[in-house]
Amino acid sequence: MSDERHTVLITGASAGLGAAVALECAKHGWRLALGARREDRLAELADAARDLGAEVYAGPLDVTDESSIEHFFDAAEASVGCADVIVNNAGSSRPGLLHEMDPRQIRLEVETNLLGVLLVTRRAVAALVERGLPGDVVFMGSDAATNPRPGQATYSATKAGLEGLQTSLSRELEGTGVRMIKLRIGPTMSEFAAGWDNSPDALEARTELFRRFGLRDARHLGNAMGSEHVAEAIVYAVTRPRGVVVDTIDIHPAAPLGGAVKGLR
Ligand SMILES: NC(=O)c1ccc[n+]([C@@H]2O[C@H](COP(=O)([O-])OP(=O)(O)OC[C@H]3O[C@@H](n4cnc5c(N)ncnc54)[C@H](OP(=O)(O)O)[C@@H]3O)[C@@H](O)[C@H]2O)c1
Repeated sequence: MSDERHTVLITGASAGLGAAVALECAKHGWRLALGARREDRLAELADAARDLGAEVYAGPLDVTDESSIEHFFDAAEASVGCADVIVNNAGSSRPGLLHEMDPRQIRLEVETNLLGVLLVTRRAVAALVERGLPGDVVFMGSDAATNPRPGQATYSATKAGLEGLQTSLSRELEGTGVRMIKLRIGPTMSEFAAGWDNSPDALEARTELFRRFGLRDARHLGNAMGSEHVAEAIVYAVTRPRGVVVDTIDIHPAAPLGGAVKGLR
């Protein structure tokens, strides 16, 4: 257990990486504010985190909706106090060529992965600056930010956008003690691709698209790392002494897929 007791707010905590970060933080005895749209899943996670000794607020949150963000922060602050670690984790993506994509899907990805992060971060940073508190804002980015993939144009654009946001905010908040930490995460076991068409034909079509760019495999489920490794990396970053900043965590599975994706550089 670390000496400092943080209050960690996680968006999209009902599954995958968000849930893994919550459980890792619970092991350290930190307070948690967990938000997502699926409240039943959040309730199960909250019970598991409480079993590990954490004090938990879990409530509904849709990061695309300003009033939902405001309500979530107000309720979380009343319950577990002001969050000093904010994990911008909520995100989604569907594979497909941009010119064939439903405009509503494009809007959803931008609103969830980029606009939502801006609105959540705005609310979280305002609370820290007003109180003169130090803190950490974590951005769950992707290796798609630096190695944009065919068939994920919108997703790649939103994750590249997070990188600009992180740098800009680091400069805006210089001297406040609020640090910005971005991750470039490679394929990780989660529910991220659960709604995708993973039929043999669809997988082969995606793989063919990747091959044209020297990539060997588009089967993200084929070689993915466990979400706990990403959670542990975040805990490492936020527990560094205040004079130290872990600016970027580039974490991915070993080859073949991780290596192949890196090969695009
Ligand atoms: N898995 C990977 O390989 C990978 C690689 C690089 C980066 N990432 C990033 O890691 C983050 C987490 O992804 P994951 O792999 O853990 O995916 P996941 O298992 O599908 O989990 C995504 C989470 O986001 C939540 N969410 C989606 N839309 C939301 C909204 N409008 N408001 C609030 N919560 C919302 C979902 O909860 P509800 O549906 O209950 O709202 C869910 O808990 C994402 O930002 C993703 O881009 C993942």
